[in-house]
Amino acid sequence: PFAAQVDSLMSLMTLEEKAGQLNLYAGSWEFTGPVPKDVNNQQKFENIKSGKVGAMLNVITADGTREAQKLAVENSRLGIPLLFGYDVIHGYKTMMPIPLGQAASWDAGVAKSGAAVAAKEAAASGINWTFAPMMDIARDARWGRMMESPGEDPYLASYMSKAWIEGFQGSDLSDIATIAACAKHFAAYGFAEAGRDYNTVDISMQTLYNMVLPPFKAASEAGVASFMNSFNEIGGVSANGSVLLQRELLKGAWNYQNGFVVSDWGSIGEMITHGYAADTLEAGYKALTAGSDMDMEAHIYENSVEELVSTGQIDENILNDAVRRILTVKYQLGLFEDPYRYCDTKREQTDLLTKEHLNIAREAAKKSIVLLKNENDLLPLAKKGQSIAVIGSLASSKDVPLGSWRAQAVENSAVSVLEGIRNAVADPNDVQYTKGYTLTKSRRAFIYELEFVNGDRSGFKAAIDLAKKVDVVVLAMGEDCWQSGEGRSQTDIGLKGDQMELMNELLKANKNIVVTLMNGRSLAIPELDEQVPAILEVWHLGSEAGNAIADVLFGDYNPSGKLPVSFPRNVGQCPIYYNHKNGGRPVTNPHDAGMVFWSHYTDSPNSPLYPFGYGLSYTSFEYSDLLLSSTEMGNNEQITATIKIKNTGKVAGQETVQFYIRDYVGSVTRPVKELKGFEKITLKPREEKEVKFTISYETLSYYRADLTFGSEPGRFAVMIGGDSQKTLTTDFRLVD
Ligand code: IFM
Repeated sequence: PFAAQVDSLMSLMTLEEKAGQLNLYAGSWEFTGPVPKDVNNQQKFENIKSGKVGAMLNVITADGTREAQKLAVENSRLGIPLLFGYDVIHGYKTMMPIPLGQAASWDAGVAKSGAAVAAKEAAASGINWTFAPMMDIARDARWGRMMESPGEDPYLASYMSKAWIEGFQGSDLSDIATIAACAKHFAAYGFAEAGRDYNTVDISMQTLYNMVLPPFKAASEAGVASFMNSFNEIGGVSANGSVLLQRELLKGAWNYQNGFVVSDWGSIGEMITHGYAADTLEAGYKALTAGSDMDMEAHIYENSVEELVSTGQIDENILNDAVRRILTVKYQLGLFEDPYRYCDTKREQTDLLTKEHLNIAREAAKKSIVLLKNENDLLPLAKKGQSIAVIGSLASSKDVPLGSWRAQAVENSAVSVLEGIRNAVADPNDVQYTKGYTLTKSRRAFIYELEFVNGDRSGFKAAIDLAKKVDVVVLAMGEDCWQSGEGRSQTDIGLKGDQMELMNELLKANKNIVVTLMNGRSLAIPELDEQVPAILEVWHLGSEAGNAIADVLFGDYNPSGKLPVSFPRNVGQCPIYYNHKNGGRPVTNPHDAGMVFWSHYTDSPNSPLYPFGYGLSYTSFEYSDLLLSSTEMGNNEQITATIKIKNTGKVAGQETVQFYIRDYVGSVTRPVKELKGFEKITLKPREEKEVKFTISYETLSYYRADLTFGSEPGRFAVMIGGDSQKTLTTDFRLVD
């Protein structure tokens, strides 16, 4: 598309103008990378005017972007419009649940409608390009960016990412309610050693191809407008400089033609720090030849590309290819028709934070909640005739639920847990609140470290007294939203501050405690699980958090979420994930119990506290009659697996039926199970349904020892159930 227009424009461009398109500058409105010592905006403006800049990030509002756009369009020789990029991750002003929470819905509708709202709001406010979706596989809860990820599984991650892209981009990028998306971070950023952000990544080619890359390949197939590469090195090569990732796979084997690759903030410069380039010139050379088309805030391209091309060190066709890709996206967005089409102050006033958007946020939020425990059916609560104590500083917070990476959300604009509960009950006087604990000292946003409150028992007495008086306690626990996000890795993934101490005191006063757990990562909470009867995982659910939580607490919505990540028992188990290898000494034989020569810990089970795919409902489901259409399958054939699921409880409910495969022997070892499909079904009490999954050559294929994609004959297990651990199992053979 637009090839003729792009060609004719490029024929007019000087080398300097072409190189200029490759530069992405940050405006000083916000910093989403290291804050520079002195920000020379004036110089940036001058460069925009002389056509040396292709795009801006962190420039916001319709007026702000118009002003910057004017500099480019009205002053530069060819008037080429700028792209305006921004981290619109889970909303612009109306906040949806954090992406990890959305992934718990296992629902493309949640992802798509939320991204469409975010796009509409951002597009009304000058933004035409979002740095989302993030599709990094996250296995390590220490990593702060788990909150932004679709979780630990490549199938679910591909499914959600595709839906996010469709939501952001719609079917036509020139529609003023849509924006260009960006598949990030390419690649393997989630595999940082020890879960420490920006740290080294060193994984096998099979892990890269089979676990990390599938969502990116799906994004390329979905026509995502851009890719962002990652900060990390991978196998000794900076991702920016990876010929394999960018030239051979993305732009080669996957035939990605109409979008471009942007670096992360300063990451082309960090190639020098990694020790992968000696200086600016070498960093520029390596990144551009490898296929990184645009430089975000490293200022390496602006200081190297012209020289590299004019001296013949880089073939001009490489530069031309990068420019062609960037201009194509600008044409697709309609910027050449009207460079100000996203800078509409009227739409900015009418299209943001609308009732309709808030309704979508509430739907998304309730579908993202996961019921982790519900002993003696403590939940749902009654709206009438039950006195409720709401306790915990997280319960009254109108800010924490907005989450990290919150774009232009207004501070303190979320519905708190307390407000949601008061909105829902018949008589708000039945609901009393006290803070009990305070999690953090002054909460300063985004770029600052947090300080926790420890050893402050000043709120305990009031909380204990209140707990004694009521029928049930809703105790909000978890993490501040600034505990997760970029640069926020932790070695402790338990509950910080005085929360656990208070919980233990409250339990002495009242056993009926429901914990609403707000967090941006999987947490290690074995003590909580052991002691309190009911736990609802509520992530950071966005603008409508409190109302959605109340929908579930009072049974207006029967919880249907399933965990997109395993919850460890302790931090020592990290990284922990369901699709691991068997190893040579797995703990399987009861005869071996008590002996040490097995792959295990001497002080903890291997298993997670809650497995991937886990989540309860207010009803119960029984799985039976797992049947295969054949126990043998030829290479070009298909077989089907069917299973019956019955609602054995008293209320209607939704179940996510999960279908896993195990390939017992391969040219390289295969995971003990891998998600290959799922279906969400709704069942009335006593209703039974049959669900069918097709097993094809594709289902059984993977990137083999020689990295070709295909299946290998042998025995396969089929496992179907309500989570990754509780499944019915049968098997079949794939024959040549
Ligand atoms: O988009 C982000 C990226 O995910 C991390 N570093 C900063 C970028 C721009 O804000």
